Amino acid sequence: MEKLFEKGYIGSCQIKNRVVMTAMTTGYAGQDGKPTEQLVRYYEARAKGGVGLIVTEIFRLNNEHGVAFPRQMYALDSNNIPSLAQMTARVHQYGTKVFAQLHHGGSTNMPVLNKRIVAPSPIPNVTGIMPEEMTIEDINELKQQFVQSAVACKAADFDGVELHGAHGYLLCEFLSPASNQRTDQYGGSVENRCRIITELIQEIKAVCGKDFPVAVRFSALEFDPDHPLSLKIEDGVEIAKVLEKAGADALDVSCGNYFTKYGENEEPYSYAQGWRKENTRKVKEAVSIPVIGVNTIKTPEFAETLLEDGICDFIGLGRGSIADPEWVRKAQTGRSNEIYKCIGCIYCFESLMNVGYVRCSVNPRAGKEAVFHEELMKNGNGRKVAVVGGGPAGMMAANILGQRGFDVTLFEKDGELGGDLLLAGATAPYKEKLIWIRNTLQARLEKTNVKVVLHCEATSEIVRQYNPEAVFVAVGGQPFIPNPAYLEKENVSLAEEVIRKEKDVQGNVVIIGAGLTGLETAEMLFREGKAEKITIADMVPQIGQGMYPSVFIDVMKEMAGKPLELLPGHMLKDIEGNKVMLTKCEDNSEVVLEADHIILSLGLKPKKDLVKAFEKEFNRVIPLGEARRTPGRVAASMEDGYVMARGFDPEA
Ligand SMILES: Cc1cc2nc3c(=O)[nH]c(=O)nc-3n(C[C@H](O)[C@H](O)[C@H](O)COP(=O)(O)O)c2cc1C
Ligand code: SF4
Repeated sequence: MEKLFEKGYIGSCQIKNRVVMTAMTTGYAGQDGKPTEQLVRYYEARAKGGVGLIVTEIFRLNNEHGVAFPRQMYALDSNNIPSLAQMTARVHQYGTKVFAQLHHGGSTNMPVLNKRIVAPSPIPNVTGIMPEEMTIEDINELKQQFVQSAVACKAADFDGVELHGAHGYLLCEFLSPASNQRTDQYGGSVENRCRIITELIQEIKAVCGKDFPVAVRFSALEFDPDHPLSLKIEDGVEIAKVLEKAGADALDVSCGNYFTKYGENEEPYSYAQGWRKENTRKVKEAVSIPVIGVNTIKTPEFAETLLEDGICDFIGLGRGSIADPEWVRKAQTGRSNEIYKCIGCIYCFESLMNVGYVRCSVNPRAGKEAVFHEELMKNGNGRKVAVVGGGPAGMMAANILGQRGFDVTLFEKDGELGGDLLLAGATAPYKEKLIWIRNTLQARLEKTNVKVVLHCEATSEIVRQYNPEAVFVAVGGQPFIPNPAYLEKENVSLAEEVIRKEKDVQGNVVIIGAGLTGLETAEMLFREGKAEKITIADMVPQIGQGMYPSVFIDVMKEMAGKPLELLPGHMLKDIEGNKVMLTKCEDNSEVVLEADHIILSLGLKPKKDLVKAFEKEFNRVIPLGEARRTPGRVAASMEDGYVMARGFDPEA
């Protein structure tokens, strides 16, 4: 991987390798606009892990119409400069450079956080809110705020700034004819639509010095089929040329806006590495300044091919750096197989939107670096512990306990490790990403000398023979079955039996349960040409309830045009022969469906009996993941395994 580790330049700024951690809002900053210890530790971990350049998350520019997020950094308060300077110093100690991303959300900013919502033109945003058209005074005032923020960032020892002109935010709204219908010097031709950015580049350089790097992130295309005027790649190429001419030091090529349908900006599971690389290549071929490209990069080997093929000069690593802060260091030391790769589950973005800060499915430590320090407490001293269940919670716990110096035996009932990861990873070729988690955990286990016993459904009697001081029970959940008699019928199966190919399903299929597993089972049956028609019913009022929209759209788009009927608000009443009786929740009326095969996908419940059996035999039993609480997602299992194994006190 020679190219990945070559030094490079953005303007006068030397960068030690070709890996740029792209801007990602975390929600870890303080409400006062200062970086918190949580945020600094998070960036410090990525710097220590080897990235060449960190572009920070979005900085706000004013409190009147520029607030995108309650907890984001703000450089225009002079009280904030010392803590920003501390942050840059802590990143710099690892030889990593850091740019501040300057941002205004335009029409996407929320009224609840702002006094005014402004945009280049009065066009309703994705939620229907009508922004005010910016006056020339507004534009001039905002430009001053950009310039003064750049000055403040320079004072705090940032190595440069990046102007956020992507993803449908204000500068992107100026660039795109779909959102910019101005008739003054800021609208119309490509030069006019770029003008606010070209003026910013020049004005920042006039004040901060021509050597102070100014990069521009922009959406080279918007993937917005419903708006014919939205940016296509040909427009992106023209924009790139104008920005280069204006003096931009680098272009950070992204795509999409808030009307983008399928989540192309933060791609869910189904997108392959590099699916958008030809767009990046087109920009790169049009300019001679460095191009940074995000390209759904998961592995260093793939990143290297992008550099070799001349797609970009720097690889943009977004979620890959959340998932594993040591992505670069592991690649550089021949340990790519130990990288926790981003699986594209979007839990990070979902958490940001739902709880206000980023969390990661594969990295329980993300954002908690200030609480969980890198060094583990190594006080296992060879004491024996057992872990029952080789799914994500069990493997993670065994891995941490092994690193802590315990003598760990991990029992798995199947012939290979992975548990529910194998099941979820088998529904579609692109869900194989879940099996990546298993592979990484397995590679880690081999390093930590954990003894793995396969094909062993460990009972308390079996585990007793190993004489452990504590037993971690991570046996997963069991399917919820409304009536066990249903499963005695030939034509009724559990979703997991269908996914494991233990049952052959053909013809007209009814699936009860419209969560992710139910939907993915349907998608799998269509893809394999097994089902003629599928009806999915669920008592909840919404299909895919609780799923993050882009993950829901991801699975639904695979079934577009297929003979699929969706019945939300329909509760299973009974199954008789080939008839499925449902109650329509709205009016309690009965709906009868005929089916060749019926699949139950009603979720999981904890295996509490098994935990109790262990508790009778052993003093210290620690249930993990779905054995402990309402079954959730892989994130919850990984976190449970990590937290409980880290916190386990052998002396207690
Ligand atoms: C949680 C989250 C927050 C993000 N916040 C920003 C942001 O503040 N500024 C920005 O330009 N892009 C933001 N992005 C987009 C990423 O920088 C990146 O372009 C995107 O995730 C695709 O790259 P990847 O596949 O390497 O993750 C965000 C993405 C995620 C997942
Ligand atoms: S939460 Fe999912 S999508 Fe986000 S970084 Fe982690 S693995 Fe990737």
